[in-house]
Amino acid sequence: MNVRILKNLINGVWSEPSAGARMDIHNPSTGEVIADAPASSKEDIDLAVSAARHAFSAGDWPLVKPYERGQMLLRVAEMIRENKESLALLEMLDTGKPISQGRADVEAAARYFEFYGGAADKIHGETIPIEPGVLDYTLREPVGVTAHIIPWNYPLQVASRSCAAALATGNTVVMKPAEQTPLTAVELGMILQQAGVPDGVVNLVLGEGHTAGARLAGHPDVNHITFTGSVPTGTEVMKAAAENIVPVTLELGGKSPNIVFPDASQDEAVEWVVKSIIQNAGQTCSAGSRLLVHADCKASFVEKVIHRMNHLSMGPGESDPDIGPILSEQQCRRIETFMKKVEADGGKFLLGGTRAYVSNAPGGCYFKPTIIDGLRPESEIAREEVFGPVLSVFAFETDEEAAHLANSTEYGLVTGIWTKDVSRAHKLAEKVKAGQIFINNYGAGGGIQMPFGGYGKSGFGREKGLEALRNYTQLKNIALKM
Ligand code: NAI
Ligand code: MG
Repeated sequence: MNVRILKNLINGVWSEPSAGARMDIHNPSTGEVIADAPASSKEDIDLAVSAARHAFSAGDWPLVKPYERGQMLLRVAEMIRENKESLALLEMLDTGKPISQGRADVEAAARYFEFYGGAADKIHGETIPIEPGVLDYTLREPVGVTAHIIPWNYPLQVASRSCAAALATGNTVVMKPAEQTPLTAVELGMILQQAGVPDGVVNLVLGEGHTAGARLAGHPDVNHITFTGSVPTGTEVMKAAAENIVPVTLELGGKSPNIVFPDASQDEAVEWVVKSIIQNAGQTCSAGSRLLVHADCKASFVEKVIHRMNHLSMGPGESDPDIGPILSEQQCRRIETFMKKVEADGGKFLLGGTRAYVSNAPGGCYFKPTIIDGLRPESEIAREEVFGPVLSVFAFETDEEAAHLANSTEYGLVTGIWTKDVSRAHKLAEKVKAGQIFINNYGAGGGIQMPFGGYGKSGFGREKGLEALRNYTQLKNIALKM
């Protein structure tokens, strides 16, 4: 296949990185090199931030009426849909994910632009009663230059969700895709240009985390940072932002449980328990990586999960399997390191635990769907994000125990509760520390409209929904004595 040559987008111009360094981009399904991307340096980030600053302060962007801004974003949504198949294919090649999951990601990206495009002219302040003769009102102003540091697991979706919200509120953007997966960000950049977004409003710098990413996080002329990724990198981003007193929105993954009671529809719960841990081969921040199941139904429920997982297909993205490859050899080794500790941590494998060999894609790294029972809840693997198709099972007897187990990690992103007893579900939902709770479902179909973010080390600030608009606006209060 042709190796695509990628460039940065700075001030409306597709440009080579200033120092000329480049990196190979691989297809995780096969290991094949599919693109050659800039490995940008600090200088490229500086150029991009300065273009974004100019577009914000002196360019055309502040003059675009909110509804026109919205119309531009709606055009972006339309163009994403027009290119749905080619974008899905690129996302599949870049991340390895099954093609149908690539298509779902593209649709979600279109919906972000649609949702925030529609919101662009509905963001407004309030008047506040003070006393006769005083008019007090608030303005919601854009923050300025916004930085977006994107992970490799859902590149187009995550780029679209924060970029659309930042643009709808009148900000300019500097985006750094993950070094492993820059392909769809480049396509998005072209679509934004074609939709009429002025030069400098969206800038794209491809490169590595420790160089380009670190400079973007620490750049003194950035006004807000949105980061999705690991806790250690989130910590670094926050430290860099602290130097400049820049607010951050951090979305840092989780160890999310599905809590299953005996009265739940068992077959439906099984479907979702499996789906929530195998989607994107478990490389999902909101993966349902823990199963907390009532002791009375544990044996039968787990048996059904094993049966279901035994019948999953695995292979390269284009064969649209249930489970595609792990991103890289490095990520696969990370999973294996966790697996080596299972026995010492009291666990035993009910299924999987090792790599899989896929004969038609020997160059890719694949990991078998895995179920582990008996882990000590305080052990590392019971508490840490594995980022693979690895499910840990725990039993509980009382609702209090279920809540305690659910809250026994430092994360708090998502929780699924499966029961027909709605009072029990609501009481548990109040006790569980997580940003999103789903009762008798998991994910509600993606939920562009629902605020999403974490408790604890899953991060803070909320993405998605109207709530995300707060990240990209600052409030000004004006009091007029008449
Ligand atoms: P990472 O957090 O290091 O990478 C995410 C993004 O941050 C990438 O764009 C990367 O270039 C950038 N980055 C890296 N170092 C940076 C720095 N010092 N300053 C600014 N930006 C920087 O994640 P990585 O290393 O790719 O994956 C390791 C683990 O992180 C995974 O196994 C998984 O557990 C977790 N992760 C979680 C994600 C989520 O959705 N919450 C997404 C990706 C990774
Ligand atoms: Mg890293």
